[in-house]
Amino acid sequence: MADADVQQFAVPSDMTAIGIAAPGGPDMLVPERRPVPVPGAGEVLIRVAAAGVNRPDVLQRMGKYPPPPGASDIPGLEVAGTVVAAGEGADMMVGQKVCALLAGGGYAEYAVAPAGQCLPVPNGVDLVEAAALPETLFTVWTNLFERAYVVAGDTVLVHGGTSGIGTMAITLCRLFDIRIVVTCGSDGKCAQAREWGADHAINYRTGDYVAAVKEITGGKGVQAVLDMVGGDYVPRNLECLAEDGRHVSIAVLGGAKASIFIPAIMSKRLTITGSTLRARSVGFKSLVADELMRNVWSFVEEGRLRPAMDRRFALTDAAKAHARMDAGEHCGKIVLVA
Ligand SMILES: NC(=O)c1ccc[n+]([C@@H]2O[C@H](COP(=O)([O-])OP(=O)(O)OC[C@H]3O[C@@H](n4cnc5c(N)ncnc54)[C@H](OP(=O)(O)O)[C@@H]3O)[C@@H](O)[C@H]2O)c1
Repeated sequence: MADADVQQFAVPSDMTAIGIAAPGGPDMLVPERRPVPVPGAGEVLIRVAAAGVNRPDVLQRMGKYPPPPGASDIPGLEVAGTVVAAGEGADMMVGQKVCALLAGGGYAEYAVAPAGQCLPVPNGVDLVEAAALPETLFTVWTNLFERAYVVAGDTVLVHGGTSGIGTMAITLCRLFDIRIVVTCGSDGKCAQAREWGADHAINYRTGDYVAAVKEITGGKGVQAVLDMVGGDYVPRNLECLAEDGRHVSIAVLGGAKASIFIPAIMSKRLTITGSTLRARSVGFKSLVADELMRNVWSFVEEGRLRPAMDRRFALTDAAKAHARMDAGEHCGKIVLVA
């Protein structure tokens, strides 16, 4: 290991991080002093410029989504910043600007990430925007493009059209010539989703999205549904699918159980699948990072793939950021600036 490289940045022994005092509301997010984590073999220490806020962080704060074994108890699944130290085998990254997918620990001034889960932040790309990319990019890529294997010319249905996930789905679908229909909970959110590139946005509070999807697709249905609602949405989503359609569950915001009509799966030859990213291995996430480098990162370099941004908050105002997400007022990504 090149000690000289590792020593070129002064790293303090402790830092400000956001702890969860107890399961509960946004006020449970409290700034506290923590030791700066030490990178192990194959890991880097990132001086965090910004950390993305994601709905799983809210669930963790409420005590409903504990960190996987070995992960930091500090919330935060994505950061961007500068690599200031590294463990064995990763020292060549010291000094680089990166964004990284984490299993936790992002709401802090310093965070450790496996080197394989880092992506280089191109010159000219704002670190605050870069921090808003990894979690939704890894999630949408693996679920929509791999599990649901959508291709150019397909039509997909994505719920939560102005969510972090939904807005990333819109962006990727536009880049890969996929038609995207989204649902949102207000006319204002529908207008925002269309402005960000959705081909169709349906207000599910005032209309029936199943009927709307049938009309949009001339009765044929969509090739894939990316679902974060679950519950009674699932049988309705299956109605929206075309023959050989794929249904991918990534969350159950509206309910963990569903009743479905199995003959519909048989007659339309549907595939029902799903995944969670956080607990997957470093090896898997590193493979996804490689795929993103090969298939998507040139769009980031060209400025064609940028996150849809909501608001920025100071790291120490994490409670305010969560209050905004809890209220469901946001459109796009909320980011904490360290
Ligand atoms: N499986 C995975 O690997 C993975 C990875 C990342 C995220 N996720 C999940 O994906 C979902 C979206 O994450 P995000 O960070 O993009 O969240 P977000 O920005 O807070 O978006 C959540 C969206 O869900 C919609 N929604 C529908 N029913 C809801 C309900 N009952 N409660 C709250 N919101 C509801 C809201 O839209 P309207 O206001 O328009 O209704 C909102 O846009 C979360 O559930 C998260 O846990 C899963």
